Amino acid sequence: MSDLVRFGVSIEKHLLDQFDLLIRKKNYTNRSEAFRDMIRHELVQKQWVENQETAGAITFVFDHHRRDLLNRVIHLQHEHYSLIISTQHVHLDHDRCLEIVAVRGAARHVQRLADSLKAVKGVEHCALSII
Ligand code: NI
Repeated sequence: MSDLVRFGVSIEKHLLDQFDLLIRKKNYTNRSEAFRDMIRHELVQKQWVENQETAGAITFVFDHHRRDLLNRVIHLQHEHYSLIISTQHVHLDHDRCLEIVAVRGAARHVQRLADSLKAVKGVEHCALSII
């Protein structure tokens, strides 16, 4: 094997006991091999999920007095119009607006749109819920 790296892991005893029990049932000869397999499995799972077609909602709050912010939010939504099913705008109070953006598409694209909206300065409480 190439580039093998050793590193220490801190773990609660009861969790390690459960891990040892699990890997014994799966016939692993040592913890390292079991750990490597778990990591590989997680990475593949994540890749699969990212390519998965999904639907959900991005919700966020912002101050509508900030024109640059509003323009940026609208611009981003137009840049990703094919992912967006609808946008609901709620005037929360005198200053703040809530937007609920219903989305459908590849999970990684939906996540990228949510990340872009979250990164706009002044956007608060941006959350993505995927079903
Ligand atoms: Ni509003």
